[in-house]
Amino acid sequence: MEIIIQTTPEAASKVAARIVARVLREKPEAVLGLPTGNTPLPLYRELIRLHRAGQADFRRVTTFNLDEYVGLAPEHPRSFYHFMWENFFRHLNIKRGKVHLPDGLAKDIPAHCDRYEKEIRAMGGIDLQILGIGADGHIAFNEPTSSLASRTRIKTLTPETRRDHAREFGGLNRVPHHAITMGIGTILEARECLLLAFGGRKARAIAGAVEGPVSSMNPASALQLHPVVRVCVDRAAAKGLKRAAYYRWVYENKPGWQVE
Ligand code: PGA
Repeated sequence: MEIIIQTTPEAASKVAARIVARVLREKPEAVLGLPTGNTPLPLYRELIRLHRAGQADFRRVTTFNLDEYVGLAPEHPRSFYHFMWENFFRHLNIKRGKVHLPDGLAKDIPAHCDRYEKEIRAMGGIDLQILGIGADGHIAFNEPTSSLASRTRIKTLTPETRRDHAREFGGLNRVPHHAITMGIGTILEARECLLLAFGGRKARAIAGAVEGPVSSMNPASALQLHPVVRVCVDRAAAKGLKRAAYYRWVYENKPGWQVE
């Protein structure tokens, strides 16, 4: 794991955007795995800026989002489909047909999840999986005790996760109980992973993910099993890391030949 600690979310997101831009330069037809939430917003803003500056071309890019609420139509203002188009896709030259999100209204959810996995495989797999993390360590909607081998499936959200989203839904009783989410096994098959976390509320989850034991109680800790993971955090999210000084030194003294 490479742990990149920056002072602010904006600075960490600029590093993350450079990583995405590097992947797109190396492979213009790259397949990106994408998260929703507050965390990726400064990254998406920076990628839109790079795109406008001619430094990030999405014309041949394919995307697969991590998750979607069960029961929400794409046009629902709180659906992840809506979030992605509003905050990211509509500002890019991405092709609508190359964008994939789980369908929150799928009639046969197991069959839909199976098809989602097949679509990822048919595109040659995910080149770069971008991830946020929940305060409880969840990645995508893989809540604590999710199987570390899990595939795309329906998950029941924890009370904590539902509470975290209550404000945006205008009340806890409006927050869905279920989501379709890529599994941890699905995420671990991506060629590279990029985990973002900002703010003190994420510090414990990040410490567990990076330095704790691999455990389904902190699903993000499964990333320790992946060969290419970069973790971009701000100072507040890094404050539980015991070896922060070492990670800082490693990043600042990176040999020139090593890719970002
Ligand atoms: P957040 O959510 O980016 O809104 O904090 C992250 C997550 O729950 O995965």
